[in-house]
Amino acid sequence: MSDRVPLVCGNWKMHKTVEEAVALVDGLVQRAEGFQGVEVAVAPPFTALHAVAKRLGGKIRLGAQNVHQETQGAFTGEVSSEMLADVGVGYVIVGHSERRAMFAETDAVVRDKLRAVLHGGMRPILCVGETLAQRDADQTLEVVAGQVEAALQGCTPSELALAVVAYEPVWAIGTGRTASPDDAQRVHAHIRRCLGGLHSDVAGRVRILYGGSMKPDNAAGLLAQPDIDGGLIGGASLQVEAFSGIIAAARASTR
Ligand code: PGA
Repeated sequence: MSDRVPLVCGNWKMHKTVEEAVALVDGLVQRAEGFQGVEVAVAPPFTALHAVAKRLGGKIRLGAQNVHQETQGAFTGEVSSEMLADVGVGYVIVGHSERRAMFAETDAVVRDKLRAVLHGGMRPILCVGETLAQRDADQTLEVVAGQVEAALQGCTPSELALAVVAYEPVWAIGTGRTASPDDAQRVHAHIRRCLGGLHSDVAGRVRILYGGSMKPDNAAGLLAQPDIDGGLIGGASLQVEAFSGIIAAARASTR
């Protein structure tokens, strides 16, 4: 068991009106007594951030799903890190594979967004992961290492200590397929070795989350692995029952 506090973060993607978001977060807050020993965060869509922030009662942290890399200006449709911090956001997801694939985010863009998050005084959740073709070609470790290094190179030790990495195999996201606990552990251990190559003294403190069809019934096996420090949850974070089940598994993994 490590001394890293597990983090379970819900990525709501493009789901939930304000009213639905508030209902979901209220349901979670009601169960927050059961979250002890686990850090819990939710990342609603931008439109619901402000309303959700007001319901969290210090029990759950607020995340955002994206940020623009510039601080302000003529960037129609974009949201800056200052704006996110202003509504109480503490974590910002960067480099999600959906953004890399559908919104053309390159490693360089992801790195700039990660820098913007740190400058805004928040913590980045950097997503990395291989596609099915890359996995079949046995390139997983190389691809993931490249993404980690491209985004985090140049971080100071204290910046790296604030970062969270989420390993999300692209083929497992929203598909119902998960990496086996052993496969995921192998990649997580490799990510930690890469972090060690950047700053060996902080690599042991950085949380590395697993994401990709994590559900209450497969969470325990994944979270029992020594280098899996929590989860980034899509589909299962949209319901109080399922999300709480994963948090319970994270809690059990600390005992
Ligand atoms: P999923 O999504 O849990 O629905 O697979 C995870 C993610 O994309 O962060």
